[in-house]
Amino acid sequence: MRAFFISFLVLVTTSSSFAALVPISSLQARATRYDSFLDCLEHAGLFPIWEGQPAYASDIAPFNLRFSWKPAVILYPKDTTDVAAAVKCGATYGVKVNARSGGHSYAAFALGGENGHLTISLDNLRHLSVNGSTATIGAGNRLGDVALYLWNNGKRAMAHGTCPYVGIGGHAGQGGFGIPSRAWGLLADQVTSIQIVTADGAIRTASKTQNADLFWAATGAGAYFGIITQFTTVTHKAVDSVAFSYTFGNYGAEDASRGLLAWQRFANDPKRPLDANLGLQLHVNPGGPPSGISFSVSGSYYSADVAKLNATMAPLLAELGKPTATTLQPQGWITSVLYYAGAPDVSGLNTTLAPDAHDHFYATSTFVSEREPLGKPSTDALMKYFYGPGVKSEVGWFIIFDLYGGQKSAIRSLGADYNAFDARDALYSIQYYGSFPCTVSDADGIKFIQGMKAALEQNQPKTVFKEYVNYIDSTYSAAVAHKKYYPTHTERLTAIKNKYDPERVFHNPQDF
Ligand SMILES: Cc1cc2nc3c(=O)[nH]c(=O)nc-3n(C[C@H](O)[C@H](O)[C@H](O)COP(=O)(O)OP(=O)(O)OC[C@H]3O[C@@H](n4cnc5c(N)ncnc54)[C@H](O)[C@@H]3O)c2cc1C
Ligand SMILES: *[C@@H]1O[C@H](CO)[C@@H](O)[C@H](O)[C@H]1NC(C)=O
Ligand SMILES: *[C@@H]1O[C@H](CO)[C@@H](O)[C@H](O)[C@H]1NC(C)=O
Ligand SMILES: *[C@@H]1O[C@H](CO)[C@@H](O)[C@H](O)[C@H]1NC(C)=O
Repeated sequence: MRAFFISFLVLVTTSSSFAALVPISSLQARATRYDSFLDCLEHAGLFPIWEGQPAYASDIAPFNLRFSWKPAVILYPKDTTDVAAAVKCGATYGVKVNARSGGHSYAAFALGGENGHLTISLDNLRHLSVNGSTATIGAGNRLGDVALYLWNNGKRAMAHGTCPYVGIGGHAGQGGFGIPSRAWGLLADQVTSIQIVTADGAIRTASKTQNADLFWAATGAGAYFGIITQFTTVTHKAVDSVAFSYTFGNYGAEDASRGLLAWQRFANDPKRPLDANLGLQLHVNPGGPPSGISFSVSGSYYSADVAKLNATMAPLLAELGKPTATTLQPQGWITSVLYYAGAPDVSGLNTTLAPDAHDHFYATSTFVSEREPLGKPSTDALMKYFYGPGVKSEVGWFIIFDLYGGQKSAIRSLGADYNAFDARDALYSIQYYGSFPCTVSDADGIKFIQGMKAALEQNQPKTVFKEYVNYIDSTYSAAVAHKKYYPTHTERLTAIKNKYDPERVFHNPQDF
C-alpha cells in the first residue's frame, strides 16, 4: 500500500468530492479510510487500479476528450458477483459509484462527471446468447458486437443506434434510438428484463412483473438505480431495406427553412400517416459549393422495395425540388447496419478487433413534439444560423433530425409512461454536435453550438422543449437536466431513487 499512499496524496488535492465525503481532518486518517476502501476491494478478490498505476491513465480516457475526470479507482469485475462486491465497498466507504459500459457518455459520466468516484467498467461482461426471439446480453457489450452476434445466430435484429462502439449499458439504459425504432421501439423498449446490482449490493432481477418500479426507472434513467449487468431483450427477424438519400446542395437558408417545414409536415400528415417501417432523417452539415452547406433527407425503408419508397417519398420530393444527388440502395440487414456504421465489412462491427476513436466535442439536443411543431420563425432562424455563422465556423459540426413519431410509430404507441423515457410525444429529435479543433476554445465551441438551439427556442418562446438524455448536455445542473429529460417523470424517479439508493451511491452531477 506504500506506493498507493504516494498516489493518494495526489488524489486528495484533485478530488474534491472524495475529500468532502470524508469529514476527517488529518490526512493520515483520510489515507487510512481510503486504504480501507482499497482493502475492501482487494479482499473481495478485485483488482483496483488507482492513479499512479501504469494502466490508470489509459483506462480512464473517456470517449469525449473534453473531460479528464479522475476516478479514485477503476476496476474490471469478471462477473455480477464481483460487481456486487465492488458496489458494497463503495457504499461502505462513501465512494460514489458509476458503471461504464461503452464509455460514450457525452459528459463522461461513466467516470463520475466529477473526481473521486469508483468506476466499474463492464468490459468483461460480454456474454451473448440467443434463444428463439430472446437475447441475453452482458452489459459490457457494444452495439456492433450485439448486431453482429444476432445476425450470425439466427439472422436476428434489434433497433439501436448506429455507432458500433456505443455500449448497450448507457444506450439501452437511457433510451437508444435507431433507424428502425419507428417499427421496433427504442432499445430500452425492447428490453424485457434486467439483472441489476442495487446500492445495497443485492443482485436483483427486474421486469414488468418483478421489481417493476426498478425496471421502469432503469429503462430510461438507467444511470441512477444500480449497475445493470445483463439485459434480456426481444429480437426481430432481420429485414432487408432500401437506404435512400436526397441531397440539396444548392439550397440557401430560405430553401432550407421551407425544406425543413415540408419534412416536418410530411413526417406527421394526418391524411398520409407514414408506415412504421420508414426510418427518416434530415441532415444539415458543412458541405461543398455553392452554399457551403449540405441539406439532405435520408433514411431506410425496411421491408420495402425502390418502387414503394419512390411512391412514399414522392409528395415530399414534390415540395423539396430536384435533388443535386440521389442514392437509392437496396440492401440486406447487415449491410444496412454497416452502412450506418460507416464500416466497409463485418469486421468493422467487431469492437474487439480495433480500438475505438475519440473526439473532443460538445453536443446537445431538442425534441420537437407532435403537438407543437416548429413554426417558420424558428426554422428560419435555425437555417440562417447554419447558412451564416455555420459556414464560417471552425467547429466541425453536424445536425441530425431523427423522426421518432407519426401516428404509426412504435415509440409513440407505447404510451407516455411505458418506461422512464419521457418523450413519447416527440415527433423528432434534433442533435447539435460540434467537434472542436485546438484553435477553438471549449467555451467558444460550446457557445457556437448552443447558439443553434437558442436560435430555434428564442423564436418559439411559448414552447417548452424536452431533450434527449442520451445526447446528455454536460453543462446542465441536476435541476435543469430533470426538466429537460424527465419533465413528467422526475417525481416518480426521485421516489424510486429514495427507495433503492437513499444514500446516492450511484451518483453524477445530474442525479435525482
Ligand atoms: C459516435 C456516437 C454515436 C451515437 N449514436 C447514437 C444513436 O444513433 N442513437 C442514440 O440514441 N444515441 C446515440 N449516441 C448516444 C449514446 O446512446 C450515449 O452516449 C450512450 O449513453 C452511450 O452508452 P455507453 O454505454 O457507451 O456509455 P457510458 O459512458 O458507459 O454510459 C453512459 C451512462 O450510463 C451509465 N451506465 C453505463 N452502463 C451502465 C449499466 N450497465 N448500468 C447502469 N448504468 C450504466 C454510465 O454510468 C453513464 O452515466 C451516440 C453516441 C456516440 C458517441
Ligand atoms: C429456450 O426457450 C425455450 C422456450 O421459451 C425454453 O423452453 C428453453 O429452456 C430455452 N433454452 C435455453 C437454453 O435457455
Ligand atoms: C470478434 O472477434 C473475436 C476475435 O476473433 C471473436 O472471438 C469474437 O467472437 C468476435 N465477436 C463477434 C460478436 O463476432
Ligand atoms: C425511383 O426514383 C428514382 C429517382 O429518384 C428513379 O431513378 C428510379 O428509376 C425510380 N425507381 C423505381 C423502381 O420507381
